[in-house]
Amino acid sequence: MTQAKVTLPVLRDMKARREPITWLTAYDYPTAQAMDQSGIDMILVGDSLGMTVLGYETTLPVTMDEMVVFTGAVSRAVKRAFVVGDMPFMSYQAEPAEAIRNAGRLLAQGGADAVKLEGGARLAHVVEAITNAGIPVFGHIGLTPQSASQLGGYRAQARTEETARRLVEDARALERAGAVALLVECVPPDACRLVHEALEIPILGLGSGLDCDGQLLIVHDMLGMFDRFTPKFVKKYASLGEEMRTAFTAYREEVKSGAFPTAAHTYSMAQESAG
Ligand code: KIV
Repeated sequence: MTQAKVTLPVLRDMKARREPITWLTAYDYPTAQAMDQSGIDMILVGDSLGMTVLGYETTLPVTMDEMVVFTGAVSRAVKRAFVVGDMPFMSYQAEPAEAIRNAGRLLAQGGADAVKLEGGARLAHVVEAITNAGIPVFGHIGLTPQSASQLGGYRAQARTEETARRLVEDARALERAGAVALLVECVPPDACRLVHEALEIPILGLGSGLDCDGQLLIVHDMLGMFDRFTPKFVKKYASLGEEMRTAFTAYREEVKSGAFPTAAHTYSMAQESAG
């Protein structure tokens, strides 16, 4: 693994060399630092933080101000990884000029390297406008959580030939508009492969199989810290939620019983000088 900062040319080179790109979400300084030190190539400060960190039912209440704060915490921790800041609901849909200003905040105030927004061909004009302002844009198609209500819930997309064909059309429209990479969420591997074959830019998958240039997981899912629901595509690499409960219970019991603190955790009085 090179220690050099991951940039767009590095990502394109990884795609060309078929080196899988690793991508995780993070929302805070210590988690982002651990990821960066572990050699994770990209970090997404996703608006999933609305559910994983802020406790909302959906991502919709997340604001631009919140995204700037969390993106800043991640960017300050990172030396190598490429940081993508997510554009929250209604920060880019209404007006391209507003989208440009908000995307600019994620770079200028949040320190992100690029922004991500959800939606296919119908959002291509927004991708083009932000790109023309000099800001790299990641597209996001397939299951787009901000449109979950319109999609009929959090469910796999592009499961028929017709919808897979539309997925490819959306992907092509985003690439033509200037998107530098594309996230394809929760579609069958065959549909993801069609997108991968049709496009030149790096294609990252979340729950979409192996036929793409890299993988994304949500950190709270893969660490076992989000138990409201677990999508089929999640692999748990740790059970930190369980470990936290064990540690908190042990602390509570030791304080209640007087077993903590001991002399090892306290200071002695300073010696008086014999003056
Ligand atoms: O907000 C996020 O973490 C995302 C993922 C669901 C892809 O956009």
